[in-house]
Amino acid sequence: MAPNNDSPSLEQQVEILKQRLAQAQNLTALGELASTTTHEFNNVLMTIINYAKYGLRHQDRASREKAFEKILAAGNRAAKITNCVLGVARNRSSGQDAVDLAQVVEDTLMLLEREMNKYRIKVEKQYAEVPQVYANGNQIQQILLNLMINARQAMPGGGRLLIKLAYDAENDLVDLVVRDFGCGIPADKLPHIFDPFYSTKSGPDASGKGGSGLGLSMCREIIEAHHGRIRVDSSPGVGTAITLKIPSVTRAAKNRPAPRAAIGPMTLPINTVSAPVS
Ligand SMILES: Nc1ncnc2c1ncn2[C@@H]1O[C@H](COP(=O)(O)OP(=O)(O)O)[C@@H](O)[C@H]1O
Ligand SMILES: [Mg+2]
Repeated sequence: MAPNNDSPSLEQQVEILKQRLAQAQNLTALGELASTTTHEFNNVLMTIINYAKYGLRHQDRASREKAFEKILAAGNRAAKITNCVLGVARNRSSGQDAVDLAQVVEDTLMLLEREMNKYRIKVEKQYAEVPQVYANGNQIQQILLNLMINARQAMPGGGRLLIKLAYDAENDLVDLVVRDFGCGIPADKLPHIFDPFYSTKSGPDASGKGGSGLGLSMCREIIEAHHGRIRVDSSPGVGTAITLKIPSVTRAAKNRPAPRAAIGPMTLPINTVSAPVS
């Protein structure tokens, strides 16, 4: 019998499924970004409305000045929030450039300010001086959103979230650590957390986040595309630290293949290890 040329080969089917997975990951990430920013925006609007009412009620100069200052600050915050969404919507390319990681972390934390307050998560930062990395800022922001939301969900009763930036001079990589003091990941589950659709959550939480099992699989793919590494240290009952190791601009420039040799992408192994966190 002649082969049926209409039905896709196994390789083609795998390719189609890979594309569908990428679409599902993108849609989930976009959904979580939309939900996060809408809630944060709403919060800013409440501040504006309340201080406008306050300014109308209190006619004295000092109260009015205070009201205008609060409204101005809230308006500026609203502009930053919409800029973040517009940046992602406009630039959906996977192009990479010199990126200041501390700035990306700050922008992401700004998007999660209300959410972290609501769930009583205290954010601590430890930023060392680090070189710029060669990265796609939007994609790194997507990773951070997912890691920080995972961390928040691991601490349902509230807790601490530690964000660390450090320079691994030996390898010319910048380490970005998202550390929570939550439930931790049992050893038997650890090997699966990067699998697409693997989730221990029963579905989206009250804030509409998590449960798809697509977050970490997307993080892993993005880090692979950056020739970086991702490392997980976790202990049940103690917490989880996820370390992203991202090439600095100088390292990326050194490793960039010469145009003639650029046959396939270079990938460093994704290095996932389990170790107790202290
Ligand atoms: N910080 C964390 N603490 C504890 N468990 C985690 C953490 N991050 C990820 N996990 C585990 O890894 C699984 C997969 O995470 P993810 O891919 O983001 O999917 P989702 O958040 O939709 O469940 C989670 O369901 C959870 O079991
Ligand atoms: Mg998640």
